[in-house]
Amino acid sequence: MNDKKSQFTRWGFIFATVGSAVGLGNIWKFPYITGEYGGGAFVLVYLFTTLFVGFAILIAEMFLGYFGKSDAVTTFENIGNGLKNRKPSMKYVGFMTFNGLIIMTFYSVVIGWILYYIYSSINGLPKTVDEAELEFKTLVGENILTQLFFHTFATLTVLHFVNGGIKNGIEKLNNFLIPTLIFIMLSLLIYSMTLDSFAESFKFMFYPDWSKLTSEAFIRAVGHSFFTLSLGMGAIITYSASIPNGTNITKSAFSVLFFDTLIALMAGLIIFTLLFQFGEEPSKGAGLVFISMPVIFSQMGDIGSLVSILFLSALAMAGLTSAVSLVEPAVIYMINRFKITRFKATIYMGTIYWFIGIFAILSYSTTYGEIFSIFGTPLFDALELLTDSILLPISGILIALTVGYVMRKVDLVKLQNEMGDKIFKIWYFSIRVVSPIAIIFLILNILGVIQL
Ligand code: TRP
Repeated sequence: MNDKKSQFTRWGFIFATVGSAVGLGNIWKFPYITGEYGGGAFVLVYLFTTLFVGFAILIAEMFLGYFGKSDAVTTFENIGNGLKNRKPSMKYVGFMTFNGLIIMTFYSVVIGWILYYIYSSINGLPKTVDEAELEFKTLVGENILTQLFFHTFATLTVLHFVNGGIKNGIEKLNNFLIPTLIFIMLSLLIYSMTLDSFAESFKFMFYPDWSKLTSEAFIRAVGHSFFTLSLGMGAIITYSASIPNGTNITKSAFSVLFFDTLIALMAGLIIFTLLFQFGEEPSKGAGLVFISMPVIFSQMGDIGSLVSILFLSALAMAGLTSAVSLVEPAVIYMINRFKITRFKATIYMGTIYWFIGIFAILSYSTTYGEIFSIFGTPLFDALELLTDSILLPISGILIALTVGYVMRKVDLVKLQNEMGDKIFKIWYFSIRVVSPIAIIFLILNILGVIQL
């Protein structure tokens, strides 16, 4: 694990971590929750929680990876064994690694939808909202085999790159896709700037209307900060284990934060400009990308198909690089612990999420939906809720507590040197106090114990 061959280069590490962070969360989810919670005020709250909670934990996860230089399970186990009264059971904290496979059960299905939409926008775009709604409903409700095909295709693509390993798979993929993705997003942004509605969109995103702000928005913002920075499942720990020596962790974490936020804001500006230009409402929920956007693209005339394909390709690339980081932690764990080959580990882990993904697909179908629902919630939604709202935040707290209380302050001297005393104090306070409290609120709110 420590030899040169399995180590990232400096930029390779940043691109790969940006690739993990920038995903469907940025381009698909961020704009629609911003729409739901009224725009500017939500954006500000999100920037705030990302800086004070997400960024703090991102640094902590990167540090854990750098410190442990192994898979997440081994890292936590070693920390536990190093304590005065040994606690080997700390290794169970590292089982957060498997959250990634649970996320992949539905993430892969969504990447499949995106691939289907790329294919279908070549054949023509829906002209009306009704038509677009019908297309999406038919895909998700009826066309099980089509979805299975694209879910399988997405799975094989992801596994191909995971099988290549850190250097020949993951680093190469990200070094190519991340600059391409940024280029596509920039082109789309420049195109949006030429449209009249850009000013309105800018205002919607950056002029806060505080009256629209609810405490629920605050909770959503904390949850999204986690998801978008890929926290709470050992993805960052795993990538950071292959960090080149002497890397400045604080600076790297900041670059990741910067690009992740940049792409989310760009996606928001682009999508809202197009929505306002073509007279759609911003709060279209999760169907925004698959129902509203295709209609807008078709109204654009000739350039529409091109913009549609560019937009969907950006989405697919963002999804693919994140997916790879969702699978790798479990794969490296299997390799280290069970001494199996990377190829075998990749196939085993891939098969598990691919198989459960089939039930996620079925849970949205009109025919089998009821069978694959839990208390009326489709398995697809249940899996998303379980990870996004419960497992990731719980792991987040455990990470914060491990770095904040279990590890000794002297172990963190590298961070202190990088940050300087003042910033280090703020960070340490966030890890020990602010982040745990914010996350406890998040979890309690989700469990419905307190309704803010
Ligand atoms: N951050 C990605 C997104 O925004 C998703 C993701 C990748 C993720 N790896 C993760 C989320 C690990 C949580 C944990 O879409």
